Amino acid sequence: MWFLAVMWISSLLIGTQAQNTATFSRGNDRNRRCQYTFTVDSPTEASCPATASSAEMEALKSRMGLLEALVSRLAGGEASGTEAQVGLRTAYNQVTGERDRLQQEKTRLTQQVGQLQKTMEELQREVERLRSRPCPQQPPQSVPLYDSSLQPGRGTSHSHPSSRPGRTETSSLRDPSWSYGSPAYQELKAEVAEFPAPRSEGTEDSKGCGELLWVGEPVTHRKADSIAGRYGVWMQDPEAVSPYGSNMLWRIDTVGTEVRQLYGYEDMDQLSRGFPAKVLLLPEAVESTGAAMYHGSLYYQRRRSRTLIRYELGSESIASRRDLPHAGFHGQFPYSWGGYTDIDFAVDENGLWVIYSTNKAKGAIVVSQLDPHNLEVKKSWETNIRKNTVANAFMICGRLYTVASYASPNTTVNYSFDTATSQSKAIAIPFQNQHRYNSMIDYNVAQRKLFAWDNYHMVSYDIRLGKQQ
Ligand SMILES: *[C@@H]1O[C@H](CO)[C@@H](O)[C@H](O)[C@H]1NC(C)=O
Ligand SMILES: *[C@@H]1O[C@H](CO)[C@@H](O)[C@H](O)[C@H]1NC(C)=O
Repeated sequence: MWFLAVMWISSLLIGTQAQNTATFSRGNDRNRRCQYTFTVDSPTEASCPATASSAEMEALKSRMGLLEALVSRLAGGEASGTEAQVGLRTAYNQVTGERDRLQQEKTRLTQQVGQLQKTMEELQREVERLRSRPCPQQPPQSVPLYDSSLQPGRGTSHSHPSSRPGRTETSSLRDPSWSYGSPAYQELKAEVAEFPAPRSEGTEDSKGCGELLWVGEPVTHRKADSIAGRYGVWMQDPEAVSPYGSNMLWRIDTVGTEVRQLYGYEDMDQLSRGFPAKVLLLPEAVESTGAAMYHGSLYYQRRRSRTLIRYELGSESIASRRDLPHAGFHGQFPYSWGGYTDIDFAVDENGLWVIYSTNKAKGAIVVSQLDPHNLEVKKSWETNIRKNTVANAFMICGRLYTVASYASPNTTVNYSFDTATSQSKAIAIPFQNQHRYNSMIDYNVAQRKLFAWDNYHMVSYDIRLGKQQ
């Protein structure tokens, strides 16, 4: 092909310059590349001048250019074919390489899938194993409040009697928040260990009584679920009567004009869950948060009256009723938060009391001891503290105590009145209204705690009794 092309070009050249002779030769050059050489006689010159005329050189150049273009065009097809072949081979090699690489990747991924399947099977076996095993034992929910570790000379290192003796039999409230792990318990334990027992100092009587020394942090047991429970009263009978056991807790939500529902809960756990075991409908509506539970009866003030009512739980009927002489009611002498808290029952080691005021006392707190059977006033004491200046009042061991504020988170029990001596005194025992609206505070003799109703929340406080230093 090359050869033919060159011959044809040569003959063209020769044809136009017939009188001249042209020679052609082919041979390797110094780089061993094949080189073609044409030799053509000049048509005008016998011999080459030292310098060729520019016109002649231009003509020669253009002829050579033409020749080169022709040759490269002719040679082009063949060259590009080779290049395509080379290209194809390269592409083929690339594709093969890619295929090999993908095969390796596939092998690797297959191995990974295998491993993951194995892991999954192991996990499924583990799940099955865990399912088939019984649940680990929970720590007991029921922890006696007055455990033996709190009893004198056993759990604690000092040998003095505890300040809260003789209450072991009433100790079976089931409330997880009163268990050993709770901060309140830890605090209580520390306090018990820290302070020697007051009874050894001769200030407590056979009931284990003493002055209020300390009130713990509130423990919330239940939040009321409706607006009716913003204020309320919750109680426990320290001398429960069949058919109800000593763990029974009672509750009245007191927002509303016709408050008549009394809820009974088997124990603290059920109260905390909000599952009443009994709902009683009282024959007469309740006024405010002053009710108390004592010896199988609910004691409460009948709505818009100074009438005291004893409602017997066993017969589910009113067992006695009596007007409290001269007592203010329905907003005449309430506690500072209002709420028609004119007449407030209380129960302590000495029995049943009622806290109220009269015109004669000019709004000062009057406390009367009642006959629990027929509601007759046995004896009355007039204090020198105005009822509407204090947030609430309660009785412990025959002493009346008042709380300064119902809303302040940090307030105090700031006053006490001893019915045994008719002596009053200012005190300052820290007291917390955690939920900032405390509508009821009563002493619970059975648990030796304060029960309170603080802004929907049923809370309790540990206390310590002893001799005031
Ligand atoms: C107790 O607190 C109330 C309310 O702050 C106050 O009016 C009363 O005087 C205080 N009583 C004593 C004895 O400090
Ligand atoms: C209440 O008192 C406690 C400690 O006695 C304190 O930590 C807390 O900050 C006080 N809260 C307020 C609102 O003063």
